[in-house]
Amino acid sequence: MLESPNASLHVDHAASSPLTARRAGALKGRARVPGDKSISHRALIFGALTVGETRISGLLEGEDVINTANAMRALGARVERTGEGAWRVFGVGVGGFRAPDGVLDFGNSGTGCRLVMGAVGGCPISATFDGDASLRRRPMQRILEPLARIGARAASAGDGGRLPITLAGARDPIPIVYRTPVPSAQIKSAVLLAGLAAPGETTVIESEASRDHTERLLKHFGAEVRLEAEGAHGRKITVRGEVELGPAPVVVPADPSSAAFPMVAALIVPGSEVILTDVMTNPLRTGLILTLREMGAEIETLDLRSAGGEELADFRVRASNLRGVDVPAARAPSMIDEYPVLAVAASFAQGTTVMRGLKELRVKESDRLSAVADGLKANGVEVDIQGDDLIVHGKGLARGDGGVATHMDHRIAMAFLVMGLSSEKPVRVDDAAIIATSFPGFPSLMRALGADLS
Ligand code: S3P
Repeated sequence: MLESPNASLHVDHAASSPLTARRAGALKGRARVPGDKSISHRALIFGALTVGETRISGLLEGEDVINTANAMRALGARVERTGEGAWRVFGVGVGGFRAPDGVLDFGNSGTGCRLVMGAVGGCPISATFDGDASLRRRPMQRILEPLARIGARAASAGDGGRLPITLAGARDPIPIVYRTPVPSAQIKSAVLLAGLAAPGETTVIESEASRDHTERLLKHFGAEVRLEAEGAHGRKITVRGEVELGPAPVVVPADPSSAAFPMVAALIVPGSEVILTDVMTNPLRTGLILTLREMGAEIETLDLRSAGGEELADFRVRASNLRGVDVPAARAPSMIDEYPVLAVAASFAQGTTVMRGLKELRVKESDRLSAVADGLKANGVEVDIQGDDLIVHGKGLARGDGGVATHMDHRIAMAFLVMGLSSEKPVRVDDAAIIATSFPGFPSLMRALGADLS
């Protein structure tokens, strides 16, 4: 949604709506969760930076992505919806954005906001970025700092460099070599997108590899990208700037971070058997599946295939007896969004699950470490936070009967609704409306599998 420059910058999500999950019978059937959120944002942004027409199919039509589509329109691209999940973008080319008339409102989405800051950072225009109360609390300095080296500057910002921010993009962008202070695909992508407009090579070095959809799409749209190993788990990514991107169709696979919810539900509701189709299996996104399998989960890979530069598969998931495991910190980037639902799975496991190195969870849509621990305690699960580690003492069950505060966080809402499908007593979350940011149709998809959500 765009607002006039003089309107209030503060935009909050629509009224909250509570939802309760109860135990019912086994979950059965096939389901395709919506398109991948990371790829959907990027498909729109790359389409807007391309000269010509980009066709996208399977786009996630959640609020976060719609906000990115609106931002691309405000920056000069033509963006049209031609059918369910089918979109066309007529781009303006690298460096071709025009100054928007109003504020760019990214709602709840850190990804949309930070990636577009990168793309704007390489253009000689000013734009004001804002979001909802959750996004206004999240750190933006991590994006402003590398963009300043490229030549962009924050003409104004909220306390601590937070939103709302007016960013003045670089007139003459400087190619840089940047080592990310935390493994974050959002920081990496912002630098690479700004670097597209700079002469010569822009390099990002990360000590732990984060999701690589930006790199894959850069290649897909014809940019020159070089990948090198960095230490044991890291990567060095180099892109040559001042390129002209050529349009390429994007097919968006189902989002593994959304599939995580029905997947864990099927594992913990006795007698369940569910098939989840078209799920992206990019190895930088599948840490949860690896971990669940270590816990004893029966997750069968069916029909592994490639489409549009990513691998995907169907998964058959059967209710399983889970056991506690130790999840190493090095695995965190490949499952960073999946810890809330993993903590739920860990509650229904026998034994202790230790999830290490979760500092970044404190700066997601909510402080997820606290939100998860509070929600588990409220529902009778024993849990500790030690430093940046989350420790869940699984007893094979959860009492339920606790109210859960979602803190404007879609994944907290979905994780605890999954818990309520198997806990002894129901679980009520205070706001299910926020789920529409990433997974519109979550309640109806779950009900179609047999879940009791009302
Ligand atoms: C995303 C990167 C992750 C993730 C977010 C989507 C992306 O954030 O939590 O939901 O699409 O680049 P960080 O890279 O900041 O960890």
